[in-house]
Amino acid sequence: MNILITGGTGLIGRRLCKTLLAEGHELTVLSRKPDSVAEKCGVTVRAMRSLNEWLPSQAFDAVINLAGEPIVDQRWTEKRKQALWDSRIALTDELVRRIAAAERKPAVLLSGSAIGYYGGRADEALDETSTAGSDFPAQLCIAWEAAARKAENFGVRVCLQRTGLVLSTEGGLLARMTTPFRLGMGTRVGDGKQWMSWIHIEDCVAIMLRLLRDGQTHGPYNVTTPQPVTNAEFTRTLAAVLRRPAPFVAPAALLKLSMGESASLLLEGQRVLPKKLESAHYRFQFPELRGALENLLN
Ligand SMILES: NC(=O)c1ccc[n+]([C@@H]2O[C@H](COP(=O)([O-])OP(=O)(O)OC[C@H]3O[C@@H](n4cnc5c(N)ncnc54)[C@H](OP(=O)(O)O)[C@@H]3O)[C@@H](O)[C@H]2O)c1
Repeated sequence: MNILITGGTGLIGRRLCKTLLAEGHELTVLSRKPDSVAEKCGVTVRAMRSLNEWLPSQAFDAVINLAGEPIVDQRWTEKRKQALWDSRIALTDELVRRIAAAERKPAVLLSGSAIGYYGGRADEALDETSTAGSDFPAQLCIAWEAAARKAENFGVRVCLQRTGLVLSTEGGLLARMTTPFRLGMGTRVGDGKQWMSWIHIEDCVAIMLRLLRDGQTHGPYNVTTPQPVTNAEFTRTLAAVLRRPAPFVAPAALLKLSMGESASLLLEGQRVLPKKLESAHYRFQFPELRGALENLLN
C-alpha cells in the first residue's frame, strides 16, 4: 500500500513505520522537520513538509493521522490548549480537505484519539459505547474524532483509535518512570486508586495494522489491554519487575499546584476495555502488565 502518515516521527509512528516498511509498503510522512524523517522513520520514507504538497493527482491507499502536540509536557494555559487543538483538529480538517480533493480517495483513514475521550471516570468500566467526558482532553478527542469522521462523506472508511497509555522504552510514560524507579524512588500518584488503561507498543502497532487491513472495521476502537490496572498496582508491578522499592507518594495537592489542570491526567483515570477488538477476536500479545513490563525492561 501507498500510505501517508502524519505524526510518523513520533513514538507510535516510528515503530509503525518500521513494521510497515518491513511489509514492503511505500510510506510518506508529514513532518515539520522533513530532514529528520529518513533517520527517524527509515531511509526509503518520503518526507512531506506541508499538506499543500498533496496534489489531487497523487493517490494514497491509506492515511494514518497521529500528529499532535504532546499533551503531558506543559501546563494547559489558553495558548497551550490552542496549540493542542490546532495541531490535531485544524490539521485533521486540512487532511480531510485534501482527501476530498484527491482524484482517487484512500480506502481508509485511521485517525488518532485517546482514552481521554471518556474523561475522568472512577471505577466505571468503559467500552466504545460509553458516553464521552466533558473535561479538556475529552473535548479535544470529541472534536478530533468528529473532524476525522467527515472523511466518511467521501466514501472513506474511518477508524478512530482511542489509545491508552502506550508502554515503550523509547518514550512516553514508561520511559519517564523507569529512571526514578530504577533508582529506588518509585512513586505512587495520589491515592493510587485511579485506573491506568495501558497498551504495549507491539500490540498498539499490531492493532493499527489490523484496522488498516480489515475492511469490516470502522468507528471508534479502544486501543487498550483487556486488563487495566490501578495506579497503585502499576506502581507495585513496575517496582517488582525492576526489583526496587517504590516508597514514595506524590500528593494530589502538590501535583495540582505544580501542574494545574493537567494534573488530571495523572490523578484521574479511566477503566477502559477493548470490547470491539475482543469481539473481532484480536489476540493480545501482552494482555497483562507484568508480562508486558518484563518484555520491555528485562
Ligand atoms: N503515546 C501515548 O501514550 C498516547 C496515548 C494516547 C493518545 N496518543 C496520541 O497518539 C498520537 C501519537 O502519539 P505519540 O506518542 O506517537 O506522539 P508523539 O511522540 O508526541 O509524536 C507526535 C508527532 O506529532 C507531530 N506534531 C507535534 N506537534 C505538532 C504540530 N504542532 N503540528 C503538526 N505536527 C505536530 C510531531 O511530528 P513532527 O515533529 O515530525 O512534525 C510528532 O512526531 C498523538 O496525537 C497522541 O496524542 C498517544
